[in-house]
Amino acid sequence: MLNNKGFDLWADDYDKSVGLSDEDGTYPFAGYKAILNEIYNRVLSAPGRRVLDIGFGTGTLTTKLYEQGCDIFGQDFSGRMIELAKEKMPTAKLFRGDFSEGLVAPLMEHKYDAIIATYSLHHLTDEQKVRFIAKLHSLLNDRGSIYIGDVAFFTRQDMEKCMVEAGDEWDDEEIYFVFEEIRQAFPNMEFEQMSSCAGLLALHR
Ligand SMILES: C[S@@+](CC[C@H](N)C(=O)[O-])C[C@H]1O[C@@H](n2cnc3c(N)ncnc32)[C@H](O)[C@@H]1O
Repeated sequence: MLNNKGFDLWADDYDKSVGLSDEDGTYPFAGYKAILNEIYNRVLSAPGRRVLDIGFGTGTLTTKLYEQGCDIFGQDFSGRMIELAKEKMPTAKLFRGDFSEGLVAPLMEHKYDAIIATYSLHHLTDEQKVRFIAKLHSLLNDRGSIYIGDVAFFTRQDMEKCMVEAGDEWDDEEIYFVFEEIRQAFPNMEFEQMSSCAGLLALHR
């Protein structure tokens, strides 16, 4: 599993390598742009504009929302990712912090209309995911939504099929969402499979 230094090293090449995997339609980023587009549309079709991005990376999605007037907050643990995102979103409130230890204090002082996390929460164990998502849910404004886009599957069987197809490319240090399992903690959670390996999870307040 990459730590913050690993992400620092990946940062400058990140957009290119993700784009290539998406264009090829291969694991792990097949469906990446489709997911980001879908979250972009859903966030902008709701009335509120305060958005928290967990693990924003180079800011690919949040920059687009920022350009549409959203008030962007975020947390990431890679100094280099934060530098790259800040260049694109100078007035965004971007904080450095490891989300496996929760949110940094300044982010807990607000409520959000949308909380988004794309390709970041697979760094948490399933138990940590449930605790963290419950905390995020408590920070939503009324009618706010959490959108999680990631490598994700409806069932564990679906995940195993993808694992076999990915062969040596499969990263067994990452812990992907299995909707059938996480919805036991969040019965109102919704799921859409967006590609052979990408899924969009949504939870509303
Ligand atoms: C694969 S990138 C995804 C970036 C962006 N959300 C996207 O969709 O392109 C994962 C991001 O999550 C951050 N990240 C991973 N684990 C983290 C942790 N434990 N705490 C904070 N940030 C973390 C990384 O630094 C990186 O910027």
